[in-house]
Amino acid sequence: MAGIAIKDLSKSFGPRDESFAAVSNLDLDIKDNQFITLLGPSGCGKTTTLRLIAGYIVPDAGTIHVNGRLVSSPGSVVPPDGRGMGMVFQNYAVWPHKTVFENVVFGLKLRKIPAAEARRKVAEALAQVNLTGLEERYPNELSGGQQQRVALARSLVVEPEILLLDEPLSNLDAKLREHMRTELKVLQRRTGITFVYVTHDQAEALALSDHIAVIHGGRLQQYGTPYEVYSKPANRLVADFMGLVNLVSGKVLEVRSGTGKIELGHAITLDVALPTGTSIGDNVEVAIRPENIRLTKPGNGSPPRAKISERTFLGNISEYYATLDSGQTLRVQTHPLQVFAVDEPVAIEIDASHCSVFRGSAAK
Ligand SMILES: Nc1ncnc2c1ncn2[C@@H]1O[C@H](COP(=O)(O)OP(=O)(O)OP(=O)(O)O)[C@@H](O)[C@H]1O
Ligand SMILES: [Mg+2]
Repeated sequence: MAGIAIKDLSKSFGPRDESFAAVSNLDLDIKDNQFITLLGPSGCGKTTTLRLIAGYIVPDAGTIHVNGRLVSSPGSVVPPDGRGMGMVFQNYAVWPHKTVFENVVFGLKLRKIPAAEARRKVAEALAQVNLTGLEERYPNELSGGQQQRVALARSLVVEPEILLLDEPLSNLDAKLREHMRTELKVLQRRTGITFVYVTHDQAEALALSDHIAVIHGGRLQQYGTPYEVYSKPANRLVADFMGLVNLVSGKVLEVRSGTGKIELGHAITLDVALPTGTSIGDNVEVAIRPENIRLTKPGNGSPPRAKISERTFLGNISEYYATLDSGQTLRVQTHPLQVFAVDEPVAIEIDASHCSVFRGSAAK
């Protein structure tokens, strides 16, 4: 199976004097047999990146190598069908007037595979996505999840070494998405195909990926394991995009080697790891996940106080907004059985070891 090396890749659209950079100086090393995800908000350049990898568009700068072979550069692009890749498109359009079999066999016909062999390969691809027996149905006789799997089978049947998937689950309801998520992961493990998966859903990215590339404004912000991007975000954009986070302004009080003390608003201090080059008095921004804040009934000598301003019961957790004396409001998640009332005073403890500190003030 195949790895992909992307080096300094850039692509702009529009006339030269007012062109828009959809992808800027992207470096990405995708090892073979990996499930990697391109994650970012709408318009950040995910589809453009995937289309560059697939060979549908020519880069303005940079290169793409697949297993050491140069497949894209500004001067030459190996066409999509010469790359050993399959692609499931964002609007996964299966052909409505073709049966499941006809949809899936299409790519093999293009490649002039003899009929008997093509039938065998289609049967194999359908078995891989659990659609055996539905060959003669038309898409309007299938559920959304089944149609999605037809689109998958259609790209699997040509035995790609790399499968590019552009938000393939976005049209499904929540339960089916979760089910298909598991199926995709199992499929990737079983086939060993390198999956490059695009989503704007951070929960999906965390659940599926060996590595996540977080993209914002056409630029790579961080490339790491799900654990790394969630718990050690490289910057505030990543922290903000990967799940819920409180971004709080603070000031540096003390600096030791790599660590230090910061003050958040009134009288809350945290001993944290600091970015290199931080000095005493610097303004910083602290990212605190709601699950890393503890609320307790205030007692004698307890840590600083806040007041509950809002609470929401969410089944497996309870969520609170706790307003500090400084006026700053923190979002907090607790066990559902830990109950505080609105307006109740509480003590706040923050697990500083799980906070990330970034330079500069919080952008409002
Ligand atoms: N062919 C094109 N011509 C002009 N601009 C384009 C073209 N394709 C994409 N863009 C622009 O490039 C930017 C990135 O688009 P892209 O489709 O890669 O985003 P995306 O991350 O896939 O977004 P989404 O999550 O909404 O699918 C957008 O601002 C888009 O409008
Ligand atoms: Mg897209």
